[in-house]
Amino acid sequence: MSTVNANFASPRTVLVSGGAVKQVAALLGRFGLSRPLIVTDPFMVRSGHVNNCLDPLTAAGIPISVFSDTVPDPTDTVVEAGVAELRKGNYDCLIGFGGGSPMDTAKAMAILAAGVAAAPAGGPPAKMRDYKVPVAADKAALPIIAIPTTAGTGSECTRLTVITDTERDEKMLIAGLGALPLAAIVDYELTYSVPARTTADTGVDSLTHALEAYVSKHANPFSDAMAVAAMTLIGRHLRTAYAEPRNAAAREGMMIGATQAGLAFSNSSVALVHGMSRPIGAHFHVPHGLSNAMLLPAVTRYSVPGAEARYAQASRHIGFAADADTDAVATAKLVSGIEALNKDLAVPTPSAYGIDEAAWTAKMDLMADQALASGSPGNNPRVPDKAQIMGLYREVWTGAPRNAPGP
Ligand SMILES: [Fe+2]
Repeated sequence: MSTVNANFASPRTVLVSGGAVKQVAALLGRFGLSRPLIVTDPFMVRSGHVNNCLDPLTAAGIPISVFSDTVPDPTDTVVEAGVAELRKGNYDCLIGFGGGSPMDTAKAMAILAAGVAAAPAGGPPAKMRDYKVPVAADKAALPIIAIPTTAGTGSECTRLTVITDTERDEKMLIAGLGALPLAAIVDYELTYSVPARTTADTGVDSLTHALEAYVSKHANPFSDAMAVAAMTLIGRHLRTAYAEPRNAAAREGMMIGATQAGLAFSNSSVALVHGMSRPIGAHFHVPHGLSNAMLLPAVTRYSVPGAEARYAQASRHIGFAADADTDAVATAKLVSGIEALNKDLAVPTPSAYGIDEAAWTAKMDLMADQALASGSPGNNPRVPDKAQIMGLYREVWTGAPRNAPGP
């Protein structure tokens, strides 16, 4: 008989509703905060989307300061620039507004700023890589309020951030309570303008979070509840949100599902898909959800024998399999269901994405090392060695079983 070993962490409060972003000033007030630095990206500023956050603050008389130099796949150099900006002002909190990248940047700024402030005079400056796993990044200089505009990385409610080490071309996983937002605002109306490609990629990322949390060795009753709820919502709404961007029910379902999936993996873990996905992002600049989608069929097929009953249950929750299906049938439907979903969401192969085969092959060895070093493959129900990870990278390139002649 197994016993539960869980440590559940979540933001202190999460506001969930259409239009909830209008409550941002009131939310700050509840925590006695009044001097935010808003962390966002240049598109949010250019497009005016950031005003959804700024207007309610201005109306409440809260001064506006914006750091908008964040980049997709946030880097240590951008985080350092953000910390320099933070130290110029008398801020009492950070608001991360945007997709995963601005939220992850805000989190990393809070962690690095704590390290910079605590560093002894004359010593080496704190660097982002000082905080990568297995270090516990539990200290933050300032509280973080997270407002996602995609559905989504779930970053608004996770104790994780992913930052690229620019000297080493490595996406570093940084984990600890320092990365956990104090509060989040989950407002699906902010996702209406998200383009179809991003809706698909971030949606598959959410699905992967829920599935990996559910099959992880660290799964527990709390993460399971969130993972099951997320898989159900995402399975029901992802295709519709992709095809009908103004569909409120689909956008709301995806937004809630993405947040639940974030709570699921933050309190369990991600696994082999994410372990292999980060190096693809670091070396070939494939958007995170897209590299997850490329990997998901092959990695799921490989992993099913390690937890057949769990994968079968996941397949039923997502809606790929029926309750009456046997585990063997349900897991087969899981793999074929993901492949069909990828097709409907126009997920390209690495080759169709424009990656050069020789470059892919040349990087497989290093990518496998980096995947293993992240620790995520060790959470998988079936733990691969380096040769097996390289075999999976090869399979994802060729799409071998997918292209095999059918009956
Ligand atoms: Fe992810």
